Amino acid sequence: MTANIWAAIENTPSKKLEALFDEDAQRVDGMTISQSGLRFDFSKTHLDAGLLLAFAELAKAMDLDGAREKLFTGAVVNPTEGRAATHVAERGNGSADDVAQAKALQNRMRGLIDVIEAGAFGEIKHILHIGIGGSALGPKLLIDALGRDGLRFDTKVVSNVDATALAEAVKDMDPKATLVAVASKTFTTTETLMNAESALEWMREGGVEDPYGQLIALTAAPEKAMEWGVDQNRILPFAESVGGRYSLWCSIGFPVAAALGWGAFEELLEGAAEMDRHFRSAPLAANAPVMAAFADLYYAQVRKCQTRAVFAYDERLRLLPDYLQQLEMESNGKSVTADGAPLGRASAPVTWGGVGTDAQHAVFQLLHQGTHTIPVEFIASKTPGHDFDPAHHETLLINCFAQGAALMRGRDSADKARSYAGDRPSTTILMDDVTPSAVGALIAFYEHRTFANAVLLGINPFDQFGVELGKEIARGIAENGPDGFDPSTSALIAAAGL
Ligand code: F6P
Repeated sequence: MTANIWAAIENTPSKKLEALFDEDAQRVDGMTISQSGLRFDFSKTHLDAGLLLAFAELAKAMDLDGAREKLFTGAVVNPTEGRAATHVAERGNGSADDVAQAKALQNRMRGLIDVIEAGAFGEIKHILHIGIGGSALGPKLLIDALGRDGLRFDTKVVSNVDATALAEAVKDMDPKATLVAVASKTFTTTETLMNAESALEWMREGGVEDPYGQLIALTAAPEKAMEWGVDQNRILPFAESVGGRYSLWCSIGFPVAAALGWGAFEELLEGAAEMDRHFRSAPLAANAPVMAAFADLYYAQVRKCQTRAVFAYDERLRLLPDYLQQLEMESNGKSVTADGAPLGRASAPVTWGGVGTDAQHAVFQLLHQGTHTIPVEFIASKTPGHDFDPAHHETLLINCFAQGAALMRGRDSADKARSYAGDRPSTTILMDDVTPSAVGALIAFYEHRTFANAVLLGINPFDQFGVELGKEIARGIAENGPDGFDPSTSALIAAAGL
């Protein structure tokens, strides 16, 4: 049914970006959406009236409206696991039951933070948050982005099973003044449990008599946490229907709420809630996540772009590309549709990126002159995150805007080594400031864009079976050593003396 629509999208004559501006004096206004302190400029993409009409047809055929309503009403949107996806309820935008449950669990988290502050865990100065993937990336991003003016607790996030990370994190921590938060949706993740065991050992060696008394669990599997030894009263549960990579809004966000304060956490939730409402109700061409998804699909499907690049022109958002890699690639890196049929087209592109201006002096050569077309996303803030000479911030923004202009404009030269093809697409997200509410809105924008991409492709974005095989083989190696694997793997295991 969608084959005709895709054919129409593919056959829509493509115009050069500069021609699109020439033929429509209002293009910037028409292709810019302002929402929740964020200005989304899609005008330097190849989307035009013809493509927007064709994508609107696709949205209709794939029932984007219906899928959105399912998401916001707590219906099953993750068919392979038979689950709803209730991260929106954490922001107050789900079914009444889901919202009530989310609020009750958030209140429990708030209560625990109050109790910690009141000294029930001793004099806590440090929080050691242990988790991986969705149980680490969100808290890490938020603390780095929003905690630069000071944190109420010195907070470190440890994810890698390489204990070099743990050693580095605890180097300046006093074990007697440390609260360990073990974050794992399933409470079965090898890396997290191994790091948690070692953290307990570190506390014991540091003279803490009852290390479990300084440990809390953030999980959707409280019974597993209890089996592991965590006291029921020190568990902050969350709903099974909140996906791991969508979980910073619930108790996985504990270190954020504790270190930045409850007020900041609420602002974060409210920023995301505003973006939820926008995504749910704005018409397609005025809907930031939907427009972004249309552009994503155009480049991945029609222009066959295999990657998209995200550059944060703000040091506070330097971890955003890492966060987005999991959100976008774990959600939409699939080869089958939600029904298990072959997808038959490209899935999500590879998400990668870095920070401006550093990336300009490292990878931008390829963006400007390489043979690949790579849609670029620039994210910047009008307001700086420092009190140094404003010239720094002006230079940062000037560079950000110059790169987008250069990608589009290009330049011909008799010397081909000095020629730039131009007509290379970019989007720019200009934030008023990097505040909790704006960052909440920004992350929710990316969540909904990922969801819209999935719906339009027919993918289930909420499972991640692709990570299981490697885990299974790792267990096999741990149990059986080198026997029973391919010759290369067996030789590596033997060479490492495992
Ligand atoms: O292996 C992938 C994954 O399941 C992610 O989806 C998840 O965010 C991460 O591992 C951590 O899982 P958990 O929170 O259950 O420890």
